[in-house]
Amino acid sequence: GIKIVTIGGGSSYTPELMEGLIKRYPELPIREIWLVDIPEGEEKLNIVGALAKRMWSATPYDVRIYLTLDRREALKDADFVTTQFRVGLLDARIIDERIPLSHGMLGQETNGAGGIFKAFRTIPVMKAIIDDMRELCPEAWLINFANPSGMVTEAVIKHFGWKKCIGLCNVPEIAMMREPAVIAQERKDMHYRFAGLNHFHWHKVFDSNGMDITRELIAHINDKDGGTPANIYQAEFPLELLYSTNLLPCGYHRYYYMKKEMLQHSLAEFAKGETRAEQMKNVEKTLFELYKDENLASKPAELEKRGGAYYSDAACTCIHAIHNDKKIHMVVSTVNKGALPCLAPDSIVEVSSILSATGAEPLAWGEMRAHEKGWLQLMKAMEECIIEAAITGDYGMALEAFTMNPLVDNGAEAKAVLDELFVAHENHLPQF
Ligand code: NAD
Ligand code: G6P
Ligand code: MN
Ligand code: MN
Repeated sequence: GIKIVTIGGGSSYTPELMEGLIKRYPELPIREIWLVDIPEGEEKLNIVGALAKRMWSATPYDVRIYLTLDRREALKDADFVTTQFRVGLLDARIIDERIPLSHGMLGQETNGAGGIFKAFRTIPVMKAIIDDMRELCPEAWLINFANPSGMVTEAVIKHFGWKKCIGLCNVPEIAMMREPAVIAQERKDMHYRFAGLNHFHWHKVFDSNGMDITRELIAHINDKDGGTPANIYQAEFPLELLYSTNLLPCGYHRYYYMKKEMLQHSLAEFAKGETRAEQMKNVEKTLFELYKDENLASKPAELEKRGGAYYSDAACTCIHAIHNDKKIHMVVSTVNKGALPCLAPDSIVEVSSILSATGAEPLAWGEMRAHEKGWLQLMKAMEECIIEAAITGDYGMALEAFTMNPLVDNGAEAKAVLDELFVAHENHLPQF
């Protein structure tokens, strides 16, 4: 039997993960699931853990669910460790969004100054998890979902030396789920190829005759429900730009291609008094009220309001592919190995890969054009500065990352935002 450990088990996404594992049980015989959290999350862990137990009780499967605040006890002999924790919970994200916005800069969970501070808070905790895993489950696979997922995965693989790690995001999954219907096609008849970085990748699509149909999908990119996650405001892409690249951007490209429109939207929400994190705190409250209902034994539809909806499809498909050596196509954050020649071979990239018992094998994309190559090299260099600052606690390196980030104004105001964020988050930044 398989032992799965989920760190950040009190997450509102846990029922989705349970649903995905229940669905796959016949091919993925799990023996134990350990949901791990910390004292600040204990109440959430108890509520969602009780729902997880009810969900499994409603099946014929004999799977034991353990709820614990003792990470080390949980990790012992784990086969798969999934990470879905949020250091500082949503209150920390509120700070990440509000401080930059109060200076007229974008504040977003994985982009701009806020995304940089989320990396600063998350990477040291991930280091401690890896230290425990080295001792307690040296053969385990780590399936990371904690954001910023690409950078956290790069820290794990390149800096902490844990090679059996796959970084996940639901954005490619949502695109592949939704786009076929937009052009009256089915997913099984389409071929997808993705390449880039987490929250900064592009994709191409081909039909079952091998014809490139990317242009057809570009024509629909500004349609509602065309494959963008719920958390991203759908400012319109300029079609001429996309036809010129002949690539489909991901939803997060909006923050860079339409920087002003996206900033104005966030500033308007901020002026109304509620940023995305505050709105999500309310959604989370509603969800946990529903989760408390002892008659509930399934995932409520309300969860689809969260941008991370359907992430468990990625997580469960990935675990299933590794355990059963499926050799299937998936889009994951993994070691580049030349798939994108414009980036270093040891960089972590988010690319179409073949998933099997050996993990992820990235598929070669080849040269990027000047436009995409320039963006990628800037963004990866910035990620490297962020990771180095997160590990060393070097203030100058943090300021370098801020200066390179296209969504952070530079000069004195960048330093002011940096300093305010350091003070607001000081309890979660032991390295600085
Ligand atoms: P959340 O605020 O519900 O946090 C999940 C749990 O993590 C909480 O119960 C919290 O107490 C716990 N936690 C905090 N620090 C911990 C630690 N040191 N050890 C163990 N548990 C800890 O968060 P959420 O909204 O469910 O999101 C969870 C994570 O997943 C976040 O990092 C978020 O950014 C990420 N996420 C990723 C994607 C993706 O596409 N990769 C999508 C959605 C969310
Ligand atoms: C997106 C992403 C996540 C992101 C999240 C935010 O789709 O892939 O990485 O951070 O959803 O969603 P939320 O509902 O919390 O704003
Ligand atoms: Mn994501
Ligand atoms: Mn800048």
